[in-house]
Amino acid sequence: MGEKKPMPVHVAVIMDGNGRWAELRKVPKLQGHNMGMVAMKEIVRKADDMGIKYLTVYAFSTENWKRSTEEIGGIFKLLVKFVAADLKELDERNAKVNIIGDWHDRLPQDAIDSVQEALDTTANNTGMVFNIALNYGSRAEIVRAVNYILENYDSSTEIGEEDISRALYTGDESGNIPDPDLIIRTSGEERLSNFLLWQAAYSELAFTDTLWPDFKPEEFEAMVEEYRTRERRYGGRL
Ligand code: FPP
Repeated sequence: MGEKKPMPVHVAVIMDGNGRWAELRKVPKLQGHNMGMVAMKEIVRKADDMGIKYLTVYAFSTENWKRSTEEIGGIFKLLVKFVAADLKELDERNAKVNIIGDWHDRLPQDAIDSVQEALDTTANNTGMVFNIALNYGSRAEIVRAVNYILENYDSSTEIGEEDISRALYTGDESGNIPDPDLIIRTSGEERLSNFLLWQAAYSELAFTDTLWPDFKPEEFEAMVEEYRTRERRYGGRL
């Protein structure tokens, strides 16, 4: 007790509460996403400044397609704007963009092009990995991994945990991102909502009532520092 544990290597964030933030202020929902984007940029900078090696954000889930076409279009417009305005800074920071989720498939073409540009521009960077979950769902990810294994492994092979980990979006195709040490969710909801279910097996979870657009770098830092006071046991007793 008392002694600070190491910094988390990988922090994942469920950015929740943009809609409620807008509702409270009686402004259009997209204004909430707009301010959510501003908050996200500040957290990316903060995480990088703190020396966090992997930052994952849940930007668009497979379930988010149920929202109105206007809202969906607005979120992807924000993504395009983000790449146009901030890719340069990410690159200067030596940050590497990575995407998890089925982003080739259903996204608007200009969003696909922006994502591709971000990936290409930062492909050789060696600093923080900024991992964006886009059209991501954890169960779909696990199903995809199982199908990959069925297609690519000899039927007599005994499949281990490592094989499944490596076949997930976070596996080989993302340079094998380590499992998140800490998962933060804003807006008072306390659930994972189909986010990194396999990878979260031993993650520490942290929740705050703050709505995502109001989530500031200081609170992020405080949550990381609180995480560093925790005793992680991984199912065993030390
Ligand atoms: C959750 O708020 C947020 C989202 C579904 C989208 C997150 C998007 C951003 C932070 C900006 C866009 C970023 C990228 C990279 C595209 P909610 O609308 O579910 O809030 P509510 O639960 O209060 O309705």
